[in-house]
Amino acid sequence: MMGGRTLVFLLLVCNYLLVAVAQTATEDLTTLRSLMDTWQNTPPNWVGSDPCNDWDGIKCTNSHVISISLASTGLAGQLSGDIGSLSELETLDLSNNKGLTGSLPQTIGNLKNLSTLMLVACSLNGPIPEEIGNLRELLFLSLNANKFVGQIPASIGNLSKLRWLDVSDNQLGGPIPVSSGSKLGLDMLYNAKHFHCGNNKLSGPIPPKLFSSKMSLIHVLFESNQLSGSIPSTLGLVQSLELVRLDSNGLSGPVPSNISNLVNVQQMYLSSNKLSGSLPNLAAMNFLSYMDISNNSFNLWDFPSWLSTMQSLTTLKMESTQLQGQISSSFFNLPNLQTVVLKRNELNGTLDIGSSYSSQLRLIDLQSNKIEDLDSNGGVPKVKIILKGNPICEENGMASENYCSNSQPSDILYKTPFNNCEPGACSVEQLPSPNCQCSYPFTGTLFFRAPSFSDLESNTHYTTLEESLVHFFQFHHLPVDSVSLSHPIKDSSQYLVLSLQVFPSSQDRFNRTGTSSIDFMLNNQIFTPPQGFGPFYFRADTYGHFGSVKISKSSNIGIIIGATVGGSILLVLLLLAGVYACFQKKRAERAIDHNNPFRRWSSESGVPQLKGAKQFSFEEIKKCTTNFSKANEIGTGGYGKVYKGTLPNGQLIAIKRALKESMQGAFEFKTEIELLSRVHHKNLASLVGFCFDKGEQMLVYEYVPNGSLKDTLSGRSGFKLDWIRRLKIALGTARGLAYLHEHANPPIIHRDVKSNNILLDERLNAKVADFGLSKSMVDTEKDHITTQVKGTMGYLDPEYYMSQQLTEKSDVYSFGVVLLELITARKPIERGKYIVKEIKSAVNKKKDLCGLYEFLDPTMDLGSTLIGLEQYVSLAMKCVEESGSDRPPMSNVVKEIENLLLLAGANPNAESASTSASYEDISKGSSRHPYSNDSLDAGAVLPNPKIEPM
Ligand SMILES: *[C@@H]1O[C@H](CO)[C@@H](O)[C@H](O)[C@H]1NC(C)=O
Ligand SMILES: *[C@@H]1O[C@H](CO)[C@@H](O)[C@H](O)[C@H]1NC(C)=O
Ligand SMILES: *[C@@H]1O[C@H](CO)[C@@H](O)[C@H](O)[C@H]1NC(C)=O
Ligand SMILES: *[C@@H]1O[C@H](CO)[C@@H](O)[C@H](O)[C@H]1NC(C)=O
Ligand SMILES: *[C@@H]1O[C@H](CO)[C@@H](O)[C@H](O)[C@H]1NC(C)=O
Repeated sequence: MMGGRTLVFLLLVCNYLLVAVAQTATEDLTTLRSLMDTWQNTPPNWVGSDPCNDWDGIKCTNSHVISISLASTGLAGQLSGDIGSLSELETLDLSNNKGLTGSLPQTIGNLKNLSTLMLVACSLNGPIPEEIGNLRELLFLSLNANKFVGQIPASIGNLSKLRWLDVSDNQLGGPIPVSSGSKLGLDMLYNAKHFHCGNNKLSGPIPPKLFSSKMSLIHVLFESNQLSGSIPSTLGLVQSLELVRLDSNGLSGPVPSNISNLVNVQQMYLSSNKLSGSLPNLAAMNFLSYMDISNNSFNLWDFPSWLSTMQSLTTLKMESTQLQGQISSSFFNLPNLQTVVLKRNELNGTLDIGSSYSSQLRLIDLQSNKIEDLDSNGGVPKVKIILKGNPICEENGMASENYCSNSQPSDILYKTPFNNCEPGACSVEQLPSPNCQCSYPFTGTLFFRAPSFSDLESNTHYTTLEESLVHFFQFHHLPVDSVSLSHPIKDSSQYLVLSLQVFPSSQDRFNRTGTSSIDFMLNNQIFTPPQGFGPFYFRADTYGHFGSVKISKSSNIGIIIGATVGGSILLVLLLLAGVYACFQKKRAERAIDHNNPFRRWSSESGVPQLKGAKQFSFEEIKKCTTNFSKANEIGTGGYGKVYKGTLPNGQLIAIKRALKESMQGAFEFKTEIELLSRVHHKNLASLVGFCFDKGEQMLVYEYVPNGSLKDTLSGRSGFKLDWIRRLKIALGTARGLAYLHEHANPPIIHRDVKSNNILLDERLNAKVADFGLSKSMVDTEKDHITTQVKGTMGYLDPEYYMSQQLTEKSDVYSFGVVLLELITARKPIERGKYIVKEIKSAVNKKKDLCGLYEFLDPTMDLGSTLIGLEQYVSLAMKCVEESGSDRPPMSNVVKEIENLLLLAGANPNAESASTSASYEDISKGSSRHPYSNDSLDAGAVLPNPKIEPM
């Protein structure tokens, strides 16, 4: 924003001229102002003459600037050499400002008092200046995730106090500098605990001199470079080491036996090198939990027997290492074992996992070996075994065995669950926090460079991390309400990558102090993650919600003069801004049009298979909902609002308008409407069309006139439902769901079955709605982007909630809750009581249904015999079984309800309304409801009402 800056500049000049600079040393103020000349998006309160009192991100002592902390504030531009004039500066943190470009000026070396220099994930380029070696006070140096080139300056060896060195994820080349004669080198950094140098282009051998017993290193990371030569045996001298990553280099020769001296090492990665010879006995490394030595040229004879003594081992990866012979079954007894990957070796004989294998074991991948048999004592629950490409899978009839299949492990669909609350719809770009408050979270990605665990499916890792983050932020008085983690994956560097959303407390957004403090606390490692996560860094997304520019208190004269001079300029600027905004909007529209996969539907390829669904323009929808008026709002869901509308031909429609954050990519949206337009079933609300226009995604459904089952049960619709009618509604719903699960192609999981989403047509037939923007089952395998736990509290399958693994059985659970709701007319959670639990315990206690009567909906004509009620309740109980595998599939549920209707003397296939003369009355708007007196199915009500003993 040039305009804003010019104005600010004018104000500054005025202040500078008219107000005596009392507090701050004049040089520091001048320096800050000249830094501002090459920066954009400095905090709007960087005006006035007293940076020490007013300015965001500035701290002073004795009127001298000692700290500039502007991480994640959207700062852009170049870091000018003037920075070197802030002689007292101790902390400089400009991390996560992607707009920060250019090189690191040599004058940085003038900051003799600098102890913390953090420039994580900016866009800096050029070499790291040698002058950095003058920063004798430096303790913490993070230059990672930039575009630095050239060599690691040998002068860094001068920084004798340095404890943290992170230059990872740059394009640094050349050798690792070590001292010789007057030349400095990294080997002199006796106080350093961290060498993080991965993902660069470092070359040449790892100098033996780099390591000595004087060092106090705990983390040595040189992964993904171009290092050659052998691993120096001197590595074994650094007894403090806890983590070694030398993987993905060109290292050759044997693994030195001295490495087994490293008894504190927990994670060791030597994979993807050219290491040869045998593997030394590492049994002394008692704490070794993660070992990856895959893809090397070892000469291994047998599966090393000492491996079976590594009590801490969680993960063993020895893919393609020429392993021969048989794996000892005692290996699987190691108590912490989670993952064993021994693909592409020569292992033979019988795979015997034994009966007392680790309870944490999840994966044994032995693809492409020579294993002939599997001895699993009748199954190994929870463990995925892969034996594809072994002789055992080449025998006739074996290909169908699970362990011979080609299935890829599916992505982990973790997302911090909602904290016992139901999120409402948030406005555009806001998101619901785990506490269901809408706000603008500060988001980004945590990269854990070497966790000690490999079982990413265990949610306890994430919940522990969430708790410790929230506790940490609140302990440090940061305005944080909650955090949400999602989408854990291992990336190509074997880093554990987790999306992080930090939600503000008290306000709906963070200010610059908020984001920069959070960023600093994370990247400065003030936050220590729970045991096992290892070293990490945080890459923030650009935060665009700081709000409007505010000019804070400054001298009156300054404001007056500034306003007079600035006023006319401001007018011009506003005009320019207006023109610019229009231009941007046009451009955005063009961009959207360009991305629109429907753009050329009328022409050649990509014509979607739309069965009767119509494309609506935004204007059309706007018109038929009278500009999305409040009066036409008929519902709100996790995806957005639902509006009622009338088409020009008079047809009533229901429009589901996706919120920004629930939108999908254009291609996915196209796939979805193609899918939905093919779904036709009388118990499903059918798709009339869609709108993909002006950056909006909307689905247009038929309007179902009699409202939702929920409204009816709560008495709001004024219909009374008798027992048979309720059975029929249950049946219709079950049939609709069975169709989605078993007949739609690909199958669809609804994910939000609840009484609000079961609509009643003019004949009171159930129509399941809101399955649009739901998840087709094919997606769950590949797609980890859009999935998060969706659903509604009270209906949500607890197993899905815990495991994040979505199956059609989650719908069965929710349907079970609806069955209970149908006979009790109670909300699933009412006054703190959970209907499922209440009825379960009532059924268990009394062993019959007498205890149930207090729960039944009194409007259900309890005087009559509710034939089949017992079977109905027991069916509902089966649907809400704890474990999905114990719940019946939807097609069985359909059959059972059909039988119940027959038992009760009604025809499950009868079109109910057609048998009723009075049906016409409702559709004509008669106030007399046909179901208020008796049932349409004459046989349903017994002449002599009595409650049968059950
Ligand atoms: C740096 O810090 C030291 C002690 O903390 C102080 O005496 C000195 O004046 C500071 N400034 C410079 C430029 O060294
Ligand atoms: C090492 O530090 C000293 C003292 O600050 C300085 O004089 C010298 O130039 C530095 N050496 C290098 C190579 O930066
Ligand atoms: C490492 O072990 C080898 C052989 O055991 C020995 O010759 C060498 O001196 C050791 N090196 C160090 C640095 O301890
Ligand atoms: C497994 O391979 C080893 C070494 O190649 C061999 O000595 C042994 O006989 C083989 N065992 C079986 C059961 O084939
Ligand atoms: C930024 O937010 C914090 C906490 O919400 C608040 O205490 C502080 O005053 C705010 N700073 C500014 C400059 O508004």
